[in-house]
Amino acid sequence: MPPLFSSPPALRRRRLLHAAAFALVLAAVALFLLLSPFDGSATPPPSSYGHRLPTLVDLTLVHGAREKGAVCLDGTPPAYHWLPGFGHGSDKWLLHLEGGSWCRNLTWCDHRKTTSLGSSSYMERAEFVGILSDDEFQNPDFYNWNKVKIRYCDGASFSGNVQDEHQYGASFFFRGQRIWEAVMSELLPKGLARAKQAFLTGCSAGGLSTYIHCDDFRALLPKDSIVKCLADGGFFLDVEDISGRRYMRSFYNDVAHLQDLRKRFPGCSSDMEPGQCFFPQEVAKGITTPMFILNPAYDVWQIEHVLSPDGSDPQSLWQNCRMDITKCNAKQLEILQGFRKSLLDAISEFKKKRDWGMFIDSCFIHCQSMKSLAWHSPSASRINNKTVAEAVGDWFFDRREVKEIDCEYPCNPTCYNVVLERPFDEE
Ligand SMILES: *[C@@H]1O[C@H](CO)[C@@H](O)[C@H](O)[C@H]1NC(C)=O
Ligand SMILES: *[C@@H]1O[C@H](CO)[C@@H](O)[C@H](O)[C@H]1NC(C)=O
Repeated sequence: MPPLFSSPPALRRRRLLHAAAFALVLAAVALFLLLSPFDGSATPPPSSYGHRLPTLVDLTLVHGAREKGAVCLDGTPPAYHWLPGFGHGSDKWLLHLEGGSWCRNLTWCDHRKTTSLGSSSYMERAEFVGILSDDEFQNPDFYNWNKVKIRYCDGASFSGNVQDEHQYGASFFFRGQRIWEAVMSELLPKGLARAKQAFLTGCSAGGLSTYIHCDDFRALLPKDSIVKCLADGGFFLDVEDISGRRYMRSFYNDVAHLQDLRKRFPGCSSDMEPGQCFFPQEVAKGITTPMFILNPAYDVWQIEHVLSPDGSDPQSLWQNCRMDITKCNAKQLEILQGFRKSLLDAISEFKKKRDWGMFIDSCFIHCQSMKSLAWHSPSASRINNKTVAEAVGDWFFDRREVKEIDCEYPCNPTCYNVVLERPFDEE
């Protein structure tokens, strides 16, 4: 009678065969992963453009931050990633303030404590792409600079400073301002204090942080150094949404109330609601350092969260349009053109400042300095045939005046428009 079960030696042979087959498959997958990005016939990986894979940079926790009370929402120390500069970039510094919206109430801030936006326990290594790339082909003007990505974990654009950690029976740290100061104290002795040129940048909520901290940054650096700032996708507008309410203002009022921000903006007039002082249009009025406003006229984040936020569209009429601009109907396009007009009106006072720059493309995107394809690649959006990277570099190095305002959608055939597969929440 044949054995019902394999005898032990046969079982071992079979296991060995399985193991060998598995190893072969693994090796093939590894070979494929290794070779495909360099294979000229393969399409480049979508997250990256350049001549090689993005550099991964380790996370550094800020030393002694807890003692200064400079901590993330959950009390963990803040963190950053530093990629040292080289060659003639070794005495130049580019800092990037991470974005990720804001939390307006304790429920939401509590949720953040279990993510990298509220706790360094969840932060990992970072890919340096776009303006942070060290690849000359992807980032021609800043590739060899010292580059630092500062992680965002305070929920209010690095501006809160609430002493008491007890909030309605739970513990929350609203210490963004102290985080900013602690990170600067750590970077200055590493070489930032001797920078010949320095550039503070940030995207989205990090773009707002850049408006907030630009002059502070200038003040930390040598008088004879060149210091400028770039706010990308950070010009949030104080406008009515499609239901006629000022959703964004009420959102900012909540953030300002929660983190007691009024005292952070003493220049803000007392007859204004506290959230109003948090809008870039107000913050930027006082800035004396040269700033570059990089903002698409149809910023996808703002269309989703400022123009047609939750609750403003009960019948979901905007669902397709807010994900893909080609799906907008004539009425919606008219509203989008009105939104663009509001942006142009709001920035008109800054256009007059001689040493400021701007690039307002008519594209459907968000955070163009942080995406290699949008920053500088054959598929990047252009105005007057210049990519975002070229326009920013031309302005930073005074190669020309850069005040680029694109014509209305759909006039720019070079637009790199995104099509969202699902609504995106935090960036
Ligand atoms: C808290 O904020 C979240 C996200 O912004 C929102 O969905 C929720 O309704 C808010 N909760 C309260 C109680 O306001
Ligand atoms: C646009 O710029 C590229 C280089 O980035 C150049 O090769 C091309 O000739 C320019 N096109 C026009 C129309 O100026």
